[in-house]
Amino acid sequence: MERPVSKPVGTPSEELDTPALVVDLDTLERNIETLHSFFLRRDAKVRPHVESHRCPAIAHKQLAAGGTVGGISVTTVGEAEVFAQRGFADIFIANEIVTTQKIARVCSLAKGCAITLAADTEDNVRDLSDAAVELGVTLGVVVDIHTRLERCGVQPGRPAVDLAGAIGRAPGLSFKGLMSYEGVIREPDQDELEAESRRCIQPVLDTREMVERAGMDVEVVSVGGTHNYEIAGDMKGVTEVPAGSYALMDHGYKEYRPQLSPAARVLATVISHPEPGLAWLDLGQKAIGMDTGLPVVDGIPGATVFTMGAEHGGLKLEGDADSMVDLGGKVWIAPLDIGNCVNVYDFVNGVRNGRLEVVWEIEARGTYR
Ligand SMILES: Cc1ncc(COP(=O)(O)O)c(C=O)c1O
Repeated sequence: MERPVSKPVGTPSEELDTPALVVDLDTLERNIETLHSFFLRRDAKVRPHVESHRCPAIAHKQLAAGGTVGGISVTTVGEAEVFAQRGFADIFIANEIVTTQKIARVCSLAKGCAITLAADTEDNVRDLSDAAVELGVTLGVVVDIHTRLERCGVQPGRPAVDLAGAIGRAPGLSFKGLMSYEGVIREPDQDELEAESRRCIQPVLDTREMVERAGMDVEVVSVGGTHNYEIAGDMKGVTEVPAGSYALMDHGYKEYRPQLSPAARVLATVISHPEPGLAWLDLGQKAIGMDTGLPVVDGIPGATVFTMGAEHGGLKLEGDADSMVDLGGKVWIAPLDIGNCVNVYDFVNGVRNGRLEVVWEIEARGTYR
């Protein structure tokens, strides 16, 4: 693990040892305020999906901002365990959990907090039920509905209603409702974004009606994310939106969500400037997490990251960029995908007005299991 604090509070951010994950606290707080104030005035609420920052301190800020369901959303059992230990009492695991070992861990968590998870097969429902009965707990279960993302989920309509019935009848389980994760709709045109979002979400709402007509209560309808939170949050029948990236944001989202700003960047040092037009940073794949593409240089027009080695990042410098980059100087890099980037750091440095204010541990880093 990294050392938690390499410089005292008050240190100018550019004096932090590199590579360093740095979050601008004013921007983070503004992003939270922007999204949460929307949900404060709606029936639907946000359930922060904390997988994109993995940091309990940030999740506490999100819940404190209001407009939430009072709980969080995660993807793995390991994330749920970390956040449960940090006092989060209502955790939605937006995923299918199928192995005996993991189901036992979920049941053990359910002894101390409200756990809801997703299912998309009757076999899984049976396994969850058997374990819950054996361990004397109740698990909340939602039906995961496939809409747009080619991932998990049953088809909307009759297959989802049948699965809801199976959950409702299963001892040890409490049928909670429906979820669908449609994946990020990267559509800058707001009309297109709205049309595509509605096309995905409406079948879930139609299924809700069918489930209710079959005599079951639907407490939860969870759909949407940062890309379409206002659209999902305004559709009647949606109860919660598990948005995640909005807090820290990233370069991949930047052009689609202009009301939110990237709050997290990585500070790097120029370790070589061997010839005009070329420089190397002490920031490679291991310090940015780059499986969705190359990160972006922030604040130096004409500078681009053209390659990422394991521990080195290559910069191409065009025009005035060359004179703005000195050996030993600092360069700000914006990650393309914040979830992958955060996951390679143990700590995040929170800065305000360019000075270190706080260091938070990314406690759920690496909790893939
Ligand atoms: C199931 C699920 N819900 C919600 C989210 C949050 O999406 P976003 O970060 O785009 O708000 C994700 C992101 O990976 C997800 O996998």
